[in-house]
Amino acid sequence: MGITQNFGIVVLSFIIGLICCVQGQLTQNFYSSTCPKAEQIVQDYVSKHIPNAPSLAAALIRMHFHDCFVRGCDASVLLNTTSSTGNQTEKFAPPNLSLRGFGFIDGVKSLLEAECPGVVSCADTLALVARDSIVTTGGPFWNVPTGRRDGLISNGTEALTNIPAPSNNLSALQTRFSSKGLDLQDLVLLSGAHTIGVSHCSSFTTRLYNFSGVLGNQDPSLDSEYATNLKSRKCLSLNDTTTLVEMDPGSVRTFDLSYYTLLLKRRGLFQSDAALTTSSNTASIINQLLQGGLQNFYAEFAKSMEKMGRVEVLTGSAGEIRRNCAIVNS
Ligand code: HEM
Ligand SMILES: *[C@@H]1O[C@H](CO)[C@@H](O)[C@H](O)[C@H]1NC(C)=O
Ligand SMILES: *[C@@H]1O[C@H](CO)[C@@H](O)[C@H](O)[C@H]1NC(C)=O
Ligand SMILES: *[C@@H]1O[C@H](CO)[C@@H](O)[C@H](O)[C@H]1NC(C)=O
Ligand SMILES: *[C@@H]1O[C@H](CO)[C@@H](O)[C@H](O)[C@H]1NC(C)=O
Ligand SMILES: *[C@@H]1O[C@H](CO)[C@@H](O)[C@H](O)[C@H]1NC(C)=O
Ligand SMILES: *[C@@H]1O[C@H](CO)[C@@H](O)[C@H](O)[C@H]1NC(C)=O
Ligand SMILES: *[C@@H]1O[C@H](CO)[C@@H](O)[C@H](O)[C@H]1NC(C)=O
Repeated sequence: MGITQNFGIVVLSFIIGLICCVQGQLTQNFYSSTCPKAEQIVQDYVSKHIPNAPSLAAALIRMHFHDCFVRGCDASVLLNTTSSTGNQTEKFAPPNLSLRGFGFIDGVKSLLEAECPGVVSCADTLALVARDSIVTTGGPFWNVPTGRRDGLISNGTEALTNIPAPSNNLSALQTRFSSKGLDLQDLVLLSGAHTIGVSHCSSFTTRLYNFSGVLGNQDPSLDSEYATNLKSRKCLSLNDTTTLVEMDPGSVRTFDLSYYTLLLKRRGLFQSDAALTTSSNTASIINQLLQGGLQNFYAEFAKSMEKMGRVEVLTGSAGEIRRNCAIVNS
Protein backbone atom coordinates (compact mmCIF):
# COMPACT_ATOMS: atom_id res chain seq x y z
CA MET A 1 0.00 0.00 0.00
CA GLY A 2 1.44 3.36 -0.99
CA ILE A 3 1.90 6.29 1.31
CA THR A 4 -0.77 8.27 -0.49
CA GLN A 5 -3.25 5.43 -0.06
CA ASN A 6 -2.45 5.19 3.64
CA PHE A 7 -2.82 8.91 3.94
CA GLY A 8 -6.16 8.66 2.15
CA ILE A 9 -7.38 6.09 4.66
CA VAL A 10 -6.31 8.24 7.59
CA VAL A 11 -8.09 11.26 6.14
CA LEU A 12 -11.17 9.16 5.41
CA SER A 13 -11.38 7.76 8.92
CA PHE A 14 -10.86 11.26 10.29
CA ILE A 15 -13.79 12.51 8.21
CA ILE A 16 -15.97 9.58 9.32
CA GLY A 17 -14.95 10.33 12.92
CA LEU A 18 -15.98 13.93 12.48
CA ILE A 19 -19.37 12.97 11.05
CA CYS A 20 -19.97 10.59 13.95
CA CYS A 21 -19.20 13.12 16.63
CA VAL A 22 -20.75 16.20 15.16
CA GLN A 23 -24.02 14.21 15.01
CA GLY A 24 -23.48 12.88 18.52
CA GLN A 25 -23.86 9.39 19.89
CA LEU A 26 -27.52 9.38 20.76
CA THR A 27 -29.25 6.02 20.71
CA GLN A 28 -32.81 4.84 20.98
CA ASN A 29 -33.64 3.95 24.61
CA PHE A 30 -30.20 4.87 25.96
CA TYR A 31 -31.38 4.21 29.55
CA SER A 32 -32.67 0.67 28.91
CA SER A 33 -30.14 -0.84 31.31
CA THR A 34 -29.27 2.09 33.58
CA CYS A 35 -32.82 3.28 34.23
CA PRO A 36 -35.24 1.02 32.37
CA LYS A 37 -38.36 2.82 33.57
CA ALA A 38 -37.14 6.32 32.67
CA GLU A 39 -39.09 6.84 29.47
CA GLN A 40 -42.23 5.34 31.00
CA ILE A 41 -41.96 7.64 34.02
CA VAL A 42 -41.81 10.65 31.70
CA GLN A 43 -44.73 9.43 29.62
CA ASP A 44 -46.89 8.67 32.68
CA TYR A 45 -46.21 12.08 34.21
CA VAL A 46 -47.03 13.84 30.94
CA SER A 47 -50.21 11.90 30.27
CA LYS A 48 -51.34 12.51 33.83
CA HIS A 49 -50.73 16.27 33.90
CA ILE A 50 -50.84 17.67 30.37
CA PRO A 51 -54.58 17.00 29.86
CA ASN A 52 -55.19 19.43 32.76
CA ALA A 53 -52.89 22.06 31.24
CA PRO A 54 -52.81 21.40 27.48
CA SER A 55 -51.40 24.86 26.67
CA LEU A 56 -48.15 23.72 28.30
CA ALA A 57 -47.51 21.39 25.36
CA ALA A 58 -46.78 24.44 23.19
CA ALA A 59 -44.58 25.99 25.86
CA LEU A 60 -42.57 22.78 26.26
CA ILE A 61 -41.84 22.15 22.59
CA ARG A 62 -40.78 25.79 22.32
CA MET A 63 -38.50 25.37 25.33
CA HIS A 64 -36.84 22.36 23.67
CA PHE A 65 -36.29 24.45 20.52
CA HIS A 66 -34.72 27.29 22.52
CA ASP A 67 -32.53 24.81 24.34
CA CYS A 68 -31.22 23.24 21.13
CA PHE A 69 -30.42 26.58 19.48
CA VAL A 70 -28.07 27.74 22.24
CA ARG A 71 -25.04 25.49 22.87
CA GLY A 72 -27.02 22.52 21.60
CA CYS A 73 -29.73 20.49 23.35
CA ASP A 74 -27.94 20.54 26.70
CA ALA A 75 -30.62 21.89 29.07
CA SER A 76 -28.73 25.20 29.33
CA VAL A 77 -32.12 26.89 28.94
CA LEU A 78 -33.10 25.52 32.34
CA LEU A 79 -30.26 27.09 34.31
CA ASN A 80 -30.97 29.87 36.78
CA THR A 81 -28.84 32.94 37.05
CA THR A 82 -26.94 32.62 40.32
CA SER A 83 -25.71 35.51 42.37
CA SER A 84 -22.24 33.99 42.71
CA THR A 85 -21.33 34.26 39.01
CA GLY A 86 -23.65 37.11 38.17
CA ASN A 87 -23.99 36.09 34.49
CA GLN A 88 -27.44 36.30 33.04
CA THR A 89 -28.53 32.88 31.85
CA GLU A 90 -30.64 32.14 28.75
CA LYS A 91 -33.82 32.11 30.83
CA PHE A 92 -33.44 35.80 31.48
CA ALA A 93 -32.58 36.91 27.95
CA PRO A 94 -35.17 38.76 25.81
CA PRO A 95 -36.15 35.73 23.66
CA ASN A 96 -37.45 34.06 26.84
CA LEU A 97 -40.75 35.90 26.47
CA SER A 98 -43.41 33.51 27.73
CA LEU A 99 -41.10 30.54 28.25
CA ARG A 100 -43.13 28.50 30.71
CA GLY A 101 -43.06 24.97 32.05
CA PHE A 102 -39.87 24.98 34.13
CA GLY A 103 -41.79 23.60 37.11
CA PHE A 104 -43.14 20.82 34.92
CA ILE A 105 -39.61 19.70 34.00
CA ASP A 106 -38.60 19.85 37.67
CA GLY A 107 -41.59 17.64 38.53
CA VAL A 108 -40.56 14.94 36.05
CA LYS A 109 -36.91 15.20 36.99
CA SER A 110 -37.58 14.66 40.70
CA LEU A 111 -39.38 11.40 39.88
CA LEU A 112 -36.46 10.32 37.70
CA GLU A 113 -33.98 11.17 40.45
CA ALA A 114 -36.02 9.13 42.93
CA GLU A 115 -35.96 6.13 40.58
CA CYS A 116 -32.31 6.34 39.51
CA PRO A 117 -30.28 9.17 41.00
CA GLY A 118 -27.83 10.95 38.73
CA VAL A 119 -28.63 8.94 35.61
CA VAL A 120 -31.12 10.73 33.38
CA SER A 121 -30.04 14.12 32.03
CA CYS A 122 -32.19 17.23 32.10
CA ALA A 123 -31.58 17.61 28.35
CA ASP A 124 -33.10 14.17 27.64
CA THR A 125 -35.90 14.89 30.10
CA LEU A 126 -36.81 18.07 28.21
CA ALA A 127 -36.59 16.35 24.81
CA LEU A 128 -38.83 13.47 25.96
CA VAL A 129 -41.31 15.74 27.74
CA ALA A 130 -41.67 17.93 24.63
CA ARG A 131 -42.41 14.90 22.43
CA ASP A 132 -44.79 13.22 24.88
CA SER A 133 -46.68 16.48 25.52
CA ILE A 134 -47.35 16.97 21.83
CA VAL A 135 -48.40 13.33 21.43
CA THR A 136 -50.71 13.59 24.45
CA THR A 137 -52.50 16.55 22.89
CA GLY A 138 -53.06 14.59 19.67
CA GLY A 139 -50.10 15.87 17.65
CA PRO A 140 -47.28 14.09 15.81
CA PHE A 141 -44.92 11.51 17.29
CA TRP A 142 -41.18 11.67 16.63
CA ASN A 143 -38.28 9.52 17.75
CA VAL A 144 -36.23 10.85 20.64
CA PRO A 145 -32.94 9.00 20.76
CA THR A 146 -31.33 9.68 24.15
CA GLY A 147 -27.90 9.99 25.75
CA ARG A 148 -27.66 13.79 25.87
CA ARG A 149 -25.69 15.24 28.74
CA ASP A 150 -26.20 18.55 30.50
CA GLY A 151 -24.12 21.64 29.83
CA LEU A 152 -22.33 23.72 32.43
CA ILE A 153 -22.81 27.12 30.85
CA SER A 154 -25.81 29.26 30.05
CA ASN A 155 -25.27 32.69 28.56
CA GLY A 156 -28.11 35.12 27.91
CA THR A 157 -26.22 36.96 25.17
CA GLU A 158 -25.88 33.74 23.22
CA ALA A 159 -29.64 33.24 23.40
CA LEU A 160 -30.07 36.64 21.81
CA THR A 161 -27.69 35.92 18.95
CA ASN A 162 -28.68 32.31 18.23
CA ILE A 163 -32.44 32.12 18.64
CA PRO A 164 -34.27 33.46 15.58
CA ALA A 165 -36.28 36.63 16.16
CA PRO A 166 -39.87 37.17 15.03
CA SER A 167 -38.65 40.16 13.02
CA ASN A 168 -36.17 38.05 11.02
CA ASN A 169 -36.41 37.88 7.24
CA LEU A 170 -35.81 34.68 5.32
CA SER A 171 -32.07 35.09 4.93
CA ALA A 172 -31.62 35.80 8.65
CA LEU A 173 -33.70 32.72 9.50
CA GLN A 174 -31.75 30.61 7.04
CA THR A 175 -28.46 31.77 8.56
CA ARG A 176 -29.54 30.91 12.10
CA PHE A 177 -30.93 27.52 11.09
CA SER A 178 -27.99 26.56 8.91
CA SER A 179 -25.59 27.38 11.73
CA LYS A 180 -27.37 24.55 13.57
CA GLY A 181 -27.16 22.20 10.59
CA LEU A 182 -30.82 22.74 9.70
CA ASP A 183 -31.93 23.56 6.16
CA LEU A 184 -34.87 25.40 4.58
CA GLN A 185 -37.04 22.28 4.66
CA ASP A 186 -36.42 22.07 8.42
CA LEU A 187 -37.16 25.79 8.79
CA VAL A 188 -40.55 25.49 7.08
CA LEU A 189 -41.46 22.32 8.97
CA LEU A 190 -40.33 23.38 12.42
CA SER A 191 -42.06 26.76 12.03
CA GLY A 192 -45.17 24.59 11.62
CA ALA A 193 -45.15 24.26 15.41
CA HIS A 194 -46.78 27.69 15.33
CA THR A 195 -49.96 25.77 14.52
CA ILE A 196 -50.37 25.63 18.32
CA GLY A 197 -49.85 28.15 21.06
CA VAL A 198 -49.99 31.84 21.70
CA SER A 199 -47.85 34.93 21.39
CA HIS A 200 -47.62 38.17 23.30
CA CYS A 201 -48.56 41.24 21.25
CA SER A 202 -45.11 42.66 21.86
CA SER A 203 -43.60 39.98 19.62
CA PHE A 204 -45.23 41.52 16.54
CA THR A 205 -46.73 44.95 17.30
CA THR A 206 -44.03 46.65 15.22
CA ARG A 207 -45.81 45.11 12.21
CA LEU A 208 -48.99 46.89 13.23
CA TYR A 209 -47.76 50.26 14.50
CA ASN A 210 -44.11 50.95 13.75
CA PHE A 211 -43.11 49.00 10.67
CA SER A 212 -39.59 49.74 9.38
CA GLY A 213 -39.17 52.09 12.31
CA VAL A 214 -41.81 54.53 11.04
CA LEU A 215 -44.45 55.25 13.66
CA GLY A 216 -47.93 54.70 12.22
CA ASN A 217 -46.67 52.34 9.52
CA GLN A 218 -48.16 48.88 9.02
CA ASP A 219 -46.44 45.91 7.40
CA PRO A 220 -47.88 45.72 3.87
CA SER A 221 -47.16 42.00 3.72
CA LEU A 222 -49.72 41.39 6.49
CA ASP A 223 -53.33 40.96 5.36
CA SER A 224 -54.86 44.37 6.10
CA GLU A 225 -58.19 43.02 7.33
CA TYR A 226 -56.38 40.79 9.81
CA ALA A 227 -54.15 43.70 10.88
CA THR A 228 -57.16 45.93 11.51
CA ASN A 229 -58.75 43.19 13.55
CA LEU A 230 -55.64 42.68 15.65
CA LYS A 231 -55.30 46.42 16.28
CA SER A 232 -58.91 46.94 17.32
CA ARG A 233 -59.53 43.77 19.31
CA LYS A 234 -56.21 42.43 20.58
CA CYS A 235 -53.10 44.58 20.52
CA LEU A 236 -54.44 48.05 21.16
CA SER A 237 -51.02 49.74 21.29
CA LEU A 238 -47.41 49.36 20.27
CA ASN A 239 -46.35 48.70 23.82
CA ASP A 240 -48.91 46.09 24.86
CA THR A 241 -46.75 43.55 26.67
CA THR A 242 -49.49 41.46 28.27
CA THR A 243 -52.19 40.45 25.78
CA LEU A 244 -51.92 36.97 24.29
CA VAL A 245 -52.89 36.21 20.70
CA GLU A 246 -53.50 32.78 19.19
CA MET A 247 -50.98 32.14 16.45
CA ASP A 248 -53.33 29.87 14.53
CA PRO A 249 -56.72 31.36 15.42
CA GLY A 250 -59.54 28.85 15.42
CA SER A 251 -57.38 25.77 15.98
CA VAL A 252 -54.82 26.89 18.54
CA ARG A 253 -54.81 23.50 20.27
CA THR A 254 -54.79 21.36 17.14
CA PHE A 255 -51.60 20.33 15.42
CA ASP A 256 -52.89 20.73 11.88
CA LEU A 257 -51.95 22.28 8.56
CA SER A 258 -53.92 25.48 9.00
CA TYR A 259 -50.79 27.43 9.96
CA TYR A 260 -49.61 26.95 6.38
CA THR A 261 -53.02 27.85 4.96
CA LEU A 262 -52.87 31.09 6.93
CA LEU A 263 -49.37 31.86 5.61
CA LEU A 264 -50.69 31.79 2.06
CA LYS A 265 -53.50 34.14 3.12
CA ARG A 266 -50.81 36.52 4.42
CA ARG A 267 -52.00 35.93 7.96
CA GLY A 268 -48.83 34.59 9.51
CA LEU A 269 -48.40 36.47 12.79
CA PHE A 270 -44.67 37.18 12.71
CA GLN A 271 -42.46 38.55 9.95
CA SER A 272 -40.57 35.27 10.36
CA ASP A 273 -43.76 33.37 9.49
CA ALA A 274 -44.54 35.63 6.53
CA ALA A 275 -40.91 35.26 5.40
CA LEU A 276 -41.53 31.61 4.56
CA THR A 277 -43.62 32.67 1.57
CA THR A 278 -40.99 35.05 0.19
CA SER A 279 -38.90 32.57 -1.80
CA SER A 280 -40.10 30.15 -4.46
CA ASN A 281 -38.17 27.38 -2.71
CA THR A 282 -39.90 27.74 0.67
CA ALA A 283 -43.27 28.55 -0.94
CA SER A 284 -43.07 25.29 -2.84
CA ILE A 285 -42.33 23.39 0.38
CA ILE A 286 -45.47 24.96 1.89
CA ASN A 287 -47.56 23.99 -1.11
CA GLN A 288 -46.27 20.42 -1.03
CA LEU A 289 -47.11 20.15 2.66
CA LEU A 290 -50.63 21.45 2.05
CA GLN A 291 -51.11 18.96 -0.77
CA GLY A 292 -49.54 16.07 1.13
CA GLY A 293 -52.09 16.03 3.94
CA LEU A 294 -51.81 15.65 7.69
CA GLN A 295 -50.02 12.30 7.96
CA ASN A 296 -47.37 13.44 5.53
CA PHE A 297 -46.90 16.66 7.54
CA TYR A 298 -46.52 14.62 10.73
CA ALA A 299 -43.95 12.34 9.13
CA GLU A 300 -41.92 15.26 7.76
CA PHE A 301 -42.22 17.20 11.02
CA ALA A 302 -40.95 14.14 12.89
CA LYS A 303 -37.81 14.00 10.73
CA SER A 304 -37.01 17.66 11.38
CA MET A 305 -37.69 17.36 15.12
CA GLU A 306 -35.38 14.38 15.43
CA LYS A 307 -32.74 16.36 13.55
CA MET A 308 -33.21 19.40 15.81
CA GLY A 309 -32.92 17.15 18.86
CA ARG A 310 -29.40 16.15 17.75
CA VAL A 311 -28.03 19.69 17.40
CA GLU A 312 -24.63 20.03 19.10
CA VAL A 313 -25.50 17.50 21.79
CA LEU A 314 -23.03 16.66 24.55
CA THR A 315 -22.47 12.90 24.83
CA GLY A 316 -20.09 10.41 26.37
CA SER A 317 -18.29 12.08 29.26
CA ALA A 318 -18.91 15.68 28.18
CA GLY A 319 -20.88 17.88 30.56
CA GLU A 320 -22.65 16.18 33.43
CA ILE A 321 -25.94 14.70 34.59
CA ARG A 322 -27.44 17.57 36.51
CA ARG A 323 -29.26 16.62 39.71
CA ASN A 324 -31.34 19.79 39.81
CA CYS A 325 -32.13 21.12 36.35
CA ALA A 326 -31.91 24.76 37.48
CA ILE A 327 -28.33 24.62 38.79
CA VAL A 328 -25.08 22.94 37.78
CA ASN A 329 -23.84 20.25 40.19
CA SER A 330 -21.45 21.59 42.76
C1 HEM B 1 -38.36 29.98 12.81
C2 HEM B 1 -38.02 30.77 13.80
C3 HEM B 1 -38.92 31.02 14.96
C4 HEM B 1 -39.24 32.23 15.48
C5 HEM B 1 -38.75 33.57 14.99
C6 HEM B 1 -40.14 32.01 16.56
C7 HEM B 1 -40.67 33.01 17.36
C8 HEM B 1 -41.65 32.81 18.31
C9 HEM B 1 -42.23 33.86 19.10
C10 HEM B 1 -41.82 35.33 19.06
C11 HEM B 1 -43.20 33.30 19.86
C12 HEM B 1 -44.14 34.02 20.81
C13 HEM B 1 -43.46 34.31 22.14
C14 HEM B 1 -44.35 35.22 22.95
O1 HEM B 1 -44.52 36.36 22.54
O2 HEM B 1 -44.92 34.77 23.95
C15 HEM B 1 -43.23 31.91 19.55
C16 HEM B 1 -44.09 31.02 20.10
C17 HEM B 1 -44.03 29.66 19.89
N1 HEM B 1 -43.09 29.00 19.14
FE1 HEM B 1 -41.79 29.84 17.86
N2 HEM B 1 -40.36 30.68 16.69
C18 HEM B 1 -39.63 30.03 15.75
C19 HEM B 1 -39.52 28.67 15.58
C20 HEM B 1 -40.14 27.75 16.40
C21 HEM B 1 -39.83 26.34 16.44
C22 HEM B 1 -38.71 25.68 15.66
C23 HEM B 1 -40.69 25.78 17.33
C24 HEM B 1 -40.79 24.35 17.77
C25 HEM B 1 -40.44 23.32 17.03
C26 HEM B 1 -41.55 26.84 17.82
C27 HEM B 1 -42.60 26.66 18.67
C28 HEM B 1 -43.36 27.67 19.22
C29 HEM B 1 -44.55 27.45 19.99
C30 HEM B 1 -45.23 26.12 20.25
C31 HEM B 1 -44.97 28.70 20.44
C32 HEM B 1 -46.17 28.99 21.36
C33 HEM B 1 -45.67 28.97 22.80
C34 HEM B 1 -46.78 29.07 23.83
O3 HEM B 1 -47.96 28.97 23.51
O4 HEM B 1 -46.42 29.26 25.02
N3 HEM B 1 -41.17 28.01 17.25
N4 HEM B 1 -42.26 31.63 18.60
C1 LIG C 1 -34.67 28.97 39.89
O1 LIG C 1 -35.36 30.20 39.73
C2 LIG C 1 -36.76 30.11 39.90
C3 LIG C 1 -37.34 31.50 39.65
O2 LIG C 1 -36.97 31.97 38.41
C4 LIG C 1 -37.10 29.62 41.29
O3 LIG C 1 -38.49 29.44 41.42
C5 LIG C 1 -36.39 28.30 41.56
O4 LIG C 1 -36.59 27.89 42.89
C6 LIG C 1 -34.91 28.42 41.29
N1 LIG C 1 -34.29 27.10 41.43
C7 LIG C 1 -33.19 26.90 42.16
C8 LIG C 1 -32.75 25.48 42.28
O5 LIG C 1 -32.59 27.80 42.67
C1 LIG D 1 -37.44 36.37 31.40
O1 LIG D 1 -36.56 37.45 31.56
C2 LIG D 1 -37.06 38.50 32.39
C3 LIG D 1 -36.02 39.60 32.41
O2 LIG D 1 -35.59 39.88 31.11
C4 LIG D 1 -37.36 37.98 33.79
O3 LIG D 1 -37.94 39.01 34.58
C5 LIG D 1 -38.31 36.80 33.69
O4 LIG D 1 -38.48 36.23 34.97
C6 LIG D 1 -37.75 35.74 32.73
N1 LIG D 1 -38.69 34.66 32.59
C7 LIG D 1 -38.43 33.43 33.02
C8 LIG D 1 -39.47 32.41 32.73
O5 LIG D 1 -37.41 33.13 33.62
C1 LIG E 1 -20.85 32.14 34.37
O1 LIG E 1 -19.68 32.67 33.80
C2 LIG E 1 -18.48 32.07 34.26
C3 LIG E 1 -17.33 32.83 33.64
O2 LIG E 1 -17.45 32.92 32.24
C4 LIG E 1 -18.49 30.59 33.86
O3 LIG E 1 -17.32 29.97 34.32
C5 LIG E 1 -19.70 29.93 34.48
O4 LIG E 1 -19.78 28.58 34.03
C6 LIG E 1 -20.97 30.66 34.05
N1 LIG E 1 -22.13 30.08 34.72
C7 LIG E 1 -23.20 29.71 34.03
C8 LIG E 1 -24.32 29.08 34.82
O5 LIG E 1 -23.32 29.85 32.84
C1 LIG F 1 -21.52 35.34 26.84
O1 LIG F 1 -21.38 35.30 25.45
C2 LIG F 1 -20.92 36.52 24.90
C3 LIG F 1 -21.03 36.41 23.38
O2 LIG F 1 -20.49 35.23 22.93
C4 LIG F 1 -19.53 36.81 25.40
O3 LIG F 1 -19.04 38.02 24.87
C5 LIG F 1 -19.56 36.88 26.93
O4 LIG F 1 -18.27 37.04 27.44
C6 LIG F 1 -20.20 35.65 27.52
N1 LIG F 1 -20.41 35.85 28.95
C7 LIG F 1 -19.85 35.08 29.90
C8 LIG F 1 -20.16 35.43 31.30
O5 LIG F 1 -19.12 34.14 29.63
C1 LIG G 1 -32.55 40.62 6.00
O1 LIG G 1 -32.21 41.15 7.26
C2 LIG G 1 -30.84 41.46 7.39
C3 LIG G 1 -30.60 41.96 8.80
O2 LIG G 1 -31.09 41.03 9.73
C4 LIG G 1 -30.44 42.52 6.37
O3 LIG G 1 -29.04 42.78 6.46
C5 LIG G 1 -30.77 42.03 4.98
O4 LIG G 1 -30.55 43.08 4.05
C6 LIG G 1 -32.23 41.61 4.89
N1 LIG G 1 -32.46 40.98 3.60
C7 LIG G 1 -33.47 41.31 2.83
C8 LIG G 1 -33.58 40.56 1.55
O5 LIG G 1 -34.27 42.17 3.15
C1 LIG H 1 -40.12 52.60 16.18
O1 LIG H 1 -39.04 51.84 15.64
C2 LIG H 1 -37.79 52.51 15.64
C3 LIG H 1 -36.79 51.63 14.93
O2 LIG H 1 -36.74 50.36 15.48
C4 LIG H 1 -37.39 52.84 17.05
O3 LIG H 1 -36.15 53.53 17.06
C5 LIG H 1 -38.46 53.67 17.71
O4 LIG H 1 -38.13 53.89 19.07
C6 LIG H 1 -39.81 52.96 17.62
N1 LIG H 1 -40.84 53.83 18.14
C7 LIG H 1 -41.45 53.60 19.32
C8 LIG H 1 -42.50 54.59 19.74
O5 LIG H 1 -41.23 52.59 19.98
C1 LIG I 1 -46.77 53.49 23.98
O1 LIG I 1 -46.50 53.74 22.60
C2 LIG I 1 -46.91 55.00 22.14
C3 LIG I 1 -46.69 55.02 20.65
O2 LIG I 1 -47.60 54.16 20.03
C4 LIG I 1 -46.14 56.08 22.88
O3 LIG I 1 -46.54 57.35 22.41
C5 LIG I 1 -46.42 55.96 24.37
O4 LIG I 1 -45.63 56.85 25.08
C6 LIG I 1 -46.13 54.54 24.86
N1 LIG I 1 -46.61 54.40 26.21
C7 LIG I 1 -45.87 53.86 27.17
C8 LIG I 1 -46.55 53.71 28.49
O5 LIG I 1 -44.73 53.52 27.02
